[in-house]
Amino acid sequence: MWHIKEEGFDINKIAHYGNKFLIGHLNLGVRGTLDEFGKAEMVACHLPFIYDQVGQGWREPVNAFNPLYTRLYQGSSSLDVFKSKIISHEQILDISAGLYTRKTLFDDEGVEVLITSKRFICASGKRRIFGVYQIETNQDISLTLKTGIDLNVWDLHGPHLEDVIKEVDGSLYVFGKTHEKGQIISTAKKVTNSHNFKASYQEDDQKMLEVYQFDAKAKEIYQFYQYAYIGVDETKAVIEAEMNDMVTLGFNQAYVDQKNIWRSMWDDADVEIVGDDFAQLALRYSIYHLLILSPRLSKNSSIPARGISGQTYKGAIFWDTEIFMLPFYLNTDLNSAKSIIKYRISGLKGAKEKAKSYGYQGAFYAWESQENGFDACTDYNVTDVFTNRPVRTYFKDKQVHISGDIVYAIKSYIDRTKDDEILMEGALELILEVARFYLSYGRYNLLLDRFEILDVLGPDEYHERVSNNAFTNKLVSMVFETVIQYEKQFKDDKNMFFYNLVKKIDFYKELSLIKDLVHKVYLKEVDKDHLIEQFDGYNRLKDISKDELLKQKLHPNEYLGGSGLAGDTKIIKQADVITMLYLFKNDYEKEIHEKNFHYYEPLTEHGSSLSSSMYALIACHIGKPEYAYPLFMKSATIDITGESKTYAGKIYIGGTHPAASGGAYMTAIYGFAGLKIGDILELEPRLPESFKKMSFKIKHLGKQYQINLTKDHYDMKEI
Ligand code: BGC
Repeated sequence: MWHIKEEGFDINKIAHYGNKFLIGHLNLGVRGTLDEFGKAEMVACHLPFIYDQVGQGWREPVNAFNPLYTRLYQGSSSLDVFKSKIISHEQILDISAGLYTRKTLFDDEGVEVLITSKRFICASGKRRIFGVYQIETNQDISLTLKTGIDLNVWDLHGPHLEDVIKEVDGSLYVFGKTHEKGQIISTAKKVTNSHNFKASYQEDDQKMLEVYQFDAKAKEIYQFYQYAYIGVDETKAVIEAEMNDMVTLGFNQAYVDQKNIWRSMWDDADVEIVGDDFAQLALRYSIYHLLILSPRLSKNSSIPARGISGQTYKGAIFWDTEIFMLPFYLNTDLNSAKSIIKYRISGLKGAKEKAKSYGYQGAFYAWESQENGFDACTDYNVTDVFTNRPVRTYFKDKQVHISGDIVYAIKSYIDRTKDDEILMEGALELILEVARFYLSYGRYNLLLDRFEILDVLGPDEYHERVSNNAFTNKLVSMVFETVIQYEKQFKDDKNMFFYNLVKKIDFYKELSLIKDLVHKVYLKEVDKDHLIEQFDGYNRLKDISKDELLKQKLHPNEYLGGSGLAGDTKIIKQADVITMLYLFKNDYEKEIHEKNFHYYEPLTEHGSSLSSSMYALIACHIGKPEYAYPLFMKSATIDITGESKTYAGKIYIGGTHPAASGGAYMTAIYGFAGLKIGDILELEPRLPESFKKMSFKIKHLGKQYQINLTKDHYDMKEI
């Protein structure tokens, strides 16, 4: 249950398999494309966080020159999955150690040629790629192998690398410079082979190539080891040393090391399911994605919404990380959890600037956060499919819940670790600045004696500029309560830490306002039917079924939000009230969860990959794992099936879906196993029919626990 495998070649699945067979870590993602593929097949050696902007194009992370390019020729004809006869073809991802394998058996007029290519990216966090390209034939034939660096890079808003310098000096080297910051992005590659064949050098159509011509003997195996290194602002001497080190280590030894690192990661993170093999594989695959994305090696890094799979969503960090991914790291890997929080602390300056730019005070966090909290979101984030014109969207200026999501995450981190130090390292200042932002954004309604938040977007982005969104208001209330809680907690601190900060950032007036308002934040009422209205006026919107609405679409990718089809109806994009109920589970009776689940689920398009898991979690909470199961599977398999939107209007939004992976993990642990974190840890198993047993480990308050459970029994022991 550790292998993802696909057989056969399907031209329509190239983009999807690029995501599905992704390998890497938070510094480098390599898409699961074939060795001979290029730009048209969306090959990418993706460099998260190395942002660049070309002209007026969207600012996005850079893709490096591709060192994996390799193509085999018999005579002058290339063995090519598009044109040649294929006897068998498979792609396999071994998720236990991040190893990608491709095996293709070609039939070239009776001559059978088997290509087996493997690659992995060193889990140490360095941008080191190890590969081996192996050839075996059933007859003696002459072959030519061209392997090198492809300079023709796939970009959404590029090209990003200019002033290209090529060098051949023991290895192949190519250096390019980014437009905006002039960062030097280099790719180096060295090939060794099992037969000591010598290569000639060729430059061809944007490629630097080593060419091996040899007479292959039937049944003999020819191996070409590929060592590649991607440098960011590194000198040639440093890169050369890396290359030498990799070659000395060799593919096989490096793979032994790789397996050890992965074993230790899985040791803390694995969730075992007995009884449902596909659910097991899907959940492990979700965890695989969370592991390749873990910011465990950085002190201050977070996770982009499309992970390391490409430039979609500008390589930016959204609320996805805090609300959907952090829970996994809080249970399994606290270095990563802390790094995620620290990333936001380092974005405080950017958040204050953003608030100021709109005439507010405090910290308004970026909706699409790049480095230092810079908001890469544009005012026109969707392009209309009919008119080809940009559509005004309000994600950046009105989705104010993002600041509260971050405070929620900090609170969860502190509750789980008791690491109060982080408050002194900037987290408290962040919380106070977020509170200040909400004070300046919201308004006190004199007549109704309540504090309201008007003109926002909740998680359901289809309904724009709404007022008193239940989810947003609840977060604002939580932020104010958190300020009061920490004041109380640190009142008697000998270093006067809380009050010194209040003084330093001049927060006196705000603190007193918060004390007045903390119980006056307007929380949407629970009505007589136990329902919570998503925002003011939602109940008056047009009643229409999801199917009816979707039938009206004139184009498969048309945008439904704003003035689109869903805007004046009750159909919502994703879990909104339900997300609030999950985050504040204990503040609402079960009956409220139940009624709202049944009311909102049929109205939810699940147009975002974040949606299903929240419904799955609530379904478990109301004791209905059978409702949760398909929603859980939808989240856990999204990058296995490829069943997700790849366009919003004309904007490409394809890639992997780590928030769905995180949501699947949360459903398993907090939903099916029913883990409850309070003063003590408890479980309330609500396993789906097909699950016989679950086992996993979690970290809590400095200890680690092994948990095993069946439908009606669990045991938990400290390890
Ligand atoms: C969702 C957002 C999400 C973003 C990135 C959008 O489609 O509506 O909630 O943060 O995608 O995943």
